[in-house]
Amino acid sequence: MTPSFRALFVPFALVLGCFLIGIRPSLAQTGLTGYWDSRTPNAGGDGTFRDTYFEIQQSGETISGNLIRRPNGIPITGTFKGNVIHFVTVPPTPPAPPAGSTAPQRPPQRPITFDGTYQDGKLLLETQGRNGVVKSVAEKVTKEATMPPPPLPLPALKDLPDNGLARTPPMGWNSWNKFAGRVDDAAVRGMADAMVSSGMSKAGYVYINIDDTWELGRDAAGNITTNKKFPDMKALADYVHSKGLKIGLYSSPGPKTCAGYEGSFGHEVQDAKTFAAWGIDYLKYDLCSGLDIYKDDAPTLQAIYQKMGEALQETHRPIIYSLCEYGRATVWTGWGTKSGGNLWRTTGDISDRWESMDRIGFSQIKLAPYAKPGHWNDPDMLEIGNGGMTADEYRTHMSLWSLLAAPLIAGNDLRSMTDETKSILMNAEVIAIDQDPEYQPVTSVSSKDKIEVLMRPLHDGSVVVGLFNRTDAPADVQMPRSSLPATLAGKKTAVRDLWKHEAVTMDGDVLQANVPSHGVVLLKISAR
Ligand code: GLA
Repeated sequence: MTPSFRALFVPFALVLGCFLIGIRPSLAQTGLTGYWDSRTPNAGGDGTFRDTYFEIQQSGETISGNLIRRPNGIPITGTFKGNVIHFVTVPPTPPAPPAGSTAPQRPPQRPITFDGTYQDGKLLLETQGRNGVVKSVAEKVTKEATMPPPPLPLPALKDLPDNGLARTPPMGWNSWNKFAGRVDDAAVRGMADAMVSSGMSKAGYVYINIDDTWELGRDAAGNITTNKKFPDMKALADYVHSKGLKIGLYSSPGPKTCAGYEGSFGHEVQDAKTFAAWGIDYLKYDLCSGLDIYKDDAPTLQAIYQKMGEALQETHRPIIYSLCEYGRATVWTGWGTKSGGNLWRTTGDISDRWESMDRIGFSQIKLAPYAKPGHWNDPDMLEIGNGGMTADEYRTHMSLWSLLAAPLIAGNDLRSMTDETKSILMNAEVIAIDQDPEYQPVTSVSSKDKIEVLMRPLHDGSVVVGLFNRTDAPADVQMPRSSLPATLAGKKTAVRDLWKHEAVTMDGDVLQANVPSHGVVLLKISAR
């Protein structure tokens, strides 16, 4: 090899060598730097994908940047060695809930670890999901592709008329708590069958609500389309109606739902018409990516929700309108009603754990005066029967939700309920509290050391008293009879235990019971 040939050949061979083993010199230094779209197939094999965007900065073997989230990204940190990438998110402490919100302080998210390789301009990534390893393929995109669309003009605020629905809190079933992304047509039909055969429909449960992940995209005319899991939504609605039940659906004012599926952004009127044409009777409208685009204040949220509320009313189909905005911007103080809402979420998402249900349920009492027929506070759906709580805890869940006049939307598999679950979800005496025809709010009689006494008057002059024990050991819980309304205090009363379904003798100056840990004794007091 001549010296001059060697001078040319050696660097060339080095570059070629690096290229062949997959590491171009520039790549080894900074080549991953840029914006990446990581596409993950959604659960349930419905043919849809979820996009997750990263901004990656590479410096030699060090990776930093962000998992792109609005308003703030989640920092990432990691390494890139050879063609092997490894990085992990570093979730910040969530901000305190907005002033006036009852939403509890959220715990920090868990860090997510990504491992993978760089091949042919793509990152092949793997991460540990709830149900096993999740694979995704990331490709470089422009910064613009990672940005939400600009906001659309919002309507001038007005007070929409009451649609006349939900005179008592809605009752039904929703797919999310049990199925999340794995709900499909067969499961919904099965749930409609079980709603009737189990006696749930006789007990008052009416709505079969399909939550997120039914969506595919839009056809050439902009109509929203269903994915493989729901081949014919109209036929499904017909089936649910044929059982004497009603059917609900889910969408978002943002371009993407919370699970990353197609939202109604810019198609509100068109989607409301589609839902009405399919025969939909209930819409849960979940803020989700709407928050990436619009301001998070009461007038803006009112306008966003009014837009769909008005579109639904213009279909002239009776459709219950369920606002899902996690208790932001004090929705209960007025704009929830004005925007046409029949119910509005007052909290973040419930989960099937005592801590979650207890934290959410007992934080809602002060909001009870804001509820009224047609317009209800929604502390999220029921977890009864999903297996994460004890029977005592589920009885507390049902009692509390009924005292709060919360929507009773079951979230379990109705096809396989134990007798205990049935006895809780179908306790007619407890449901009657929730569904009292003349709504009067629950009040806190006393609250000390995790012992709570709640009282709610009913239309027939009786009151229901809930003796709750949130502690980890059995406890005696009592309420002086002097705390009863004047119509009952000092009078002869009948006392009925609504979980034992029997009259109890409590003639002294106090109503009292020994209450199991995390349990409740629910008493109905009537004049004798
Ligand atoms: C949000 C809602 C949930 C559920 C999911 C679906 O988290 O609060 O109730 O609808 O979205 O993605």
